[in-house]
Amino acid sequence: MELYEAIRNRRSHRFYKPDLPPREVLERVIQAAIWAPSGTNAQPWQIDVLAGRYRDEFVERVTHCIAHMRELMKAANIPEKGQELVIKFFQNLGGAPVVIVVTVDKVADPGMMEANIQSGAALMQNLLLAAHAEGLGTCWMTGPNYVAQELLDYLGKPDRHLLAITPIGYSAKEPPVPPRKEREIRWLGF
Ligand SMILES: Cc1cc2nc3c(=O)[nH]c(=O)nc-3n(C[C@H](O)[C@H](O)[C@H](O)COP(=O)(O)O)c2cc1C
Repeated sequence: MELYEAIRNRRSHRFYKPDLPPREVLERVIQAAIWAPSGTNAQPWQIDVLAGRYRDEFVERVTHCIAHMRELMKAANIPEKGQELVIKFFQNLGGAPVVIVVTVDKVADPGMMEANIQSGAALMQNLLLAAHAEGLGTCWMTGPNYVAQELLDYLGKPDRHLLAITPIGYSAKEPPVPPRKEREIRWLGF
């Protein structure tokens, strides 16, 4: 797939078929992800790929962030219908058969911590684009970070920083295309 096309057409998928993607496809996606740049080339990430009972047990814990999500959406005046869609997605991650969890090293220095988070985000975007190129849907999620400690404890990684998770699998529903906003882009000195 052409790079610009992949960047433009990747979407956040919130409905999945139950079919498990082949392991070699998931491995290709992860191998592409780890070629992300990283601050001081620390490569501070770890990736957990969960299927079967591990996926189910993890998703059950993710649902514990729903109460918090409700409060947030109420405060943001999101319409009831939109709120229910979000809640439904968080209840079972759209039925995705696999969940990928990205964590980064926790470090004391705030500058390096910032770099680790940005490095993890670069890995995440690589992962999403590679999955899209393989015909797989994903949805970058930080909502579950409201219960980060519980999720990290479940993974046996209590001292790491939870960056984000994504469900991954074959999409069951074409997602909408949220339009991009006009944001300032300044060209100085041209
Ligand atoms: C840092 C980050 C966190 C996100 N967290 C969530 C989330 O918790 N739940 C969710 O449904 N979508 C989440 N998203 C997906 C965004 O809602 C989505 O990217 C945005 O609406 C644009 O849609 P698109 O990805 O289809 O272009 C997140 C995206 C990013 C980059």
